[in-house]
Amino acid sequence: MSTDTLTINIQPVAKSRISELDFNNIEFGKIFSDHMLVSDYKNGAWQAPEIVPYGNMSLSPATSAIHYGQSVFEGMKAYRAENGDILLFRPYDNYKRLNISGDRMCIPELPEEIFMQGLEQLLRLDAAWVPPTKGSALYIRPFTFATDDFIGVRPSSNYKFTIFSCPVGAYYNAPLRVAIETKYVRSAEGGAGYAKAAGNYGAALYPARQMQEKGYHQLIWTDHKEHKYIEESGTMNVMFVIDGVLVTPTTSTTILSGITRDSVLTLARDLGYTVEERRVSIDEIVAAHKAGKLQEAFGTGTAATIAQIATIHCNGEDLDLPEIENREISNRIADELDKIKTGQAPDTHNWVYRISL
Ligand code: COI
Repeated sequence: MSTDTLTINIQPVAKSRISELDFNNIEFGKIFSDHMLVSDYKNGAWQAPEIVPYGNMSLSPATSAIHYGQSVFEGMKAYRAENGDILLFRPYDNYKRLNISGDRMCIPELPEEIFMQGLEQLLRLDAAWVPPTKGSALYIRPFTFATDDFIGVRPSSNYKFTIFSCPVGAYYNAPLRVAIETKYVRSAEGGAGYAKAAGNYGAALYPARQMQEKGYHQLIWTDHKEHKYIEESGTMNVMFVIDGVLVTPTTSTTILSGITRDSVLTLARDLGYTVEERRVSIDEIVAAHKAGKLQEAFGTGTAATIAQIATIHCNGEDLDLPEIENREISNRIADELDKIKTGQAPDTHNWVYRISL
């Protein structure tokens, strides 16, 4: 893949909106940084990207992504280092996954330079939006969608790739109450569950809302065949500590290969913990809880990072887990991960991409 330097046309905003933001009180996903990057795919090629003021897009009502869901996205974060530099966490992994998701949805491969150079230039321009406050970050949303104005069902010939960003604080404000889902499925073998495809999220809203109406924040998805094995929790991967061992479902065609998931497992191994990636049954979780061996449960994802699970509802019963403060593995890894992302601990896995200002 070419690593030539791209010329990116930039139309800066006349006046920044940053004064609207209170860095000490950031709501997730509501206030967007000044600029966005846009590149169109037409005539069989991705066109030179542009950076323009963040704003509405004009689309035909027949835009194919709206009707048939040919749309994929990523979520990634940038942090502020002590010296003011911007630190992106594992952006190449997001780039690769965007193309893996795109491949599943018949979206043409995006060149690395459009993603990486576009991202870097965008962040240089919107550097002031990367929060300096602990626990906050700039959430970055790259996405690609089909733009043919045609309502026949076929892969589109035209696409739009865009990156915008928004400063964020915590995604969840409290430890989660989750319930095991045994009726609806998120994905089935051979489906698109491993892709970060828009439709996976749309189809999950209804089952999630049913659980929310029963008093749970999120659900735990189970396998489509038997509803016996755990897959993910809400929009996150899920992990458990059973008798000192960190256990998580193996990724497959039905489970998203989370970048935070991989980071947590890698750090756990570095720290000397035993890690098992394997099938995890509901029965095992219930039995471990009964035996007093279910020590921790948490979700992992870019938006939430590590989201502690306080209660798991299963077979009509709420299983309450040990206090969050006493959870050694997840707390230690969350702390370590945070230090790496913000440049306070050595980056031994080359995860951090530094943009020096
Ligand atoms: C992320 O963690 O970035 C996600 O994909 C969750 C998001 C849908 C808010």
